[in-house]
Amino acid sequence: MKIKLYNKIAPTGLAKLPADWETGDALTGEDAIIVRSADLHEVEFPATLKAIARAGAGVNNIPLDKCTEQGVVVFNTPGANAQSVAELALAGILFTSRDIYGGMEWSKTLTGDPEAAKKVEKEKSRFQGPEVMGKTLGVIGLGAVGGKLANAAAAIGMKVLGFDPYLSEAAAKELSPAVEVTAEMDRIFTESDYISIHVPSLPSTKGTFGKANLSKCKKGVRLLNLSRADLAVDEDVLAGLESGQIAAYYTDFPTGAVAGKKGVIATPHLGASTPEAEDHCAEMAAEELADFLQNGNITHSVNIPALTLPRGGGKRVGVIFRVEAEQALTGLFAGAQTARNIKGEVGYLLAETASPVDLTKIQAVPGVIRVNCF
Ligand code: MLT
Repeated sequence: MKIKLYNKIAPTGLAKLPADWETGDALTGEDAIIVRSADLHEVEFPATLKAIARAGAGVNNIPLDKCTEQGVVVFNTPGANAQSVAELALAGILFTSRDIYGGMEWSKTLTGDPEAAKKVEKEKSRFQGPEVMGKTLGVIGLGAVGGKLANAAAAIGMKVLGFDPYLSEAAAKELSPAVEVTAEMDRIFTESDYISIHVPSLPSTKGTFGKANLSKCKKGVRLLNLSRADLAVDEDVLAGLESGQIAAYYTDFPTGAVAGKKGVIATPHLGASTPEAEDHCAEMAAEELADFLQNGNITHSVNIPALTLPRGGGKRVGVIFRVEAEQALTGLFAGAQTARNIKGEVGYLLAETASPVDLTKIQAVPGVIRVNCF
């Protein structure tokens, strides 16, 4: 197998791939891709490409519709970098409270100044800010990152209000009893002193930090965005900072419009930039790819339904299809051990059989997108 790497991928991850697989950034005719943040939207994929694994949670750098049309399975690594992102968010809460960054910059002007100690005491009030204990943190999105942040903030004495219409049972169980979950997103905006957003960039979430919601906020709210730039409307955030409605905006996704502006604290997408997160993401991505390319099993795909079939001793066929093909496909696998799953318009069928399978017949079924053998 050939695995093309679009970014530097942690060696501990690559070690999870079978030793005889080729990996590199200059391969052609690749079976799969591992990518971090490189933009694949304009990349021409070879016909050999079966899967892409994103070593990270967000998949906005991958053309999902094109991948689904071509039967390319796109994986991500939910939770693998969550601790690192949540830790940076926690730092963001502190950095938007006192003007720590402004104070650090000003302190540089004291180099070699014999009056430094005096000036420190005279000027320190310029950088003051509130304690976070007892303040309300609103968390939008209680997935792996939002959940960890909510628990950490509760542990340092913040009141935490979380909103997540898609909260899974497993994620809910991980939440501290001190975290209040609300079904009303408006409460996040009207009651919070700090708001941190942890959702993917989707048509429904873009612009969440925009005029309509920001106008409901308490005066002096502090906003944190460690998710994606387009979750905030830059001009609305800047207008809020200008009027004092927003006290500070921390973003890990600075745009040219907000970078360097008063009240904006920005870092260059550092959320997952820890050795631990890089290792965990690369390992999970490699394991997902290996299980798919060897066994046809799909775990953590964002475009094709999840499916795992314990391996017997036979040959396997995996069929990615549009729902209209389901009935016709059923008849073609009589006698085989099969499993299937359907999500929305797309289905996945995995069959294991000792007898030969007519692949052309399967491929010819209207609605079949792709057939792979494992
Ligand atoms: C993610 O999507 O997982 C985070 O933004 C971190 C990253 O992109 O590496």
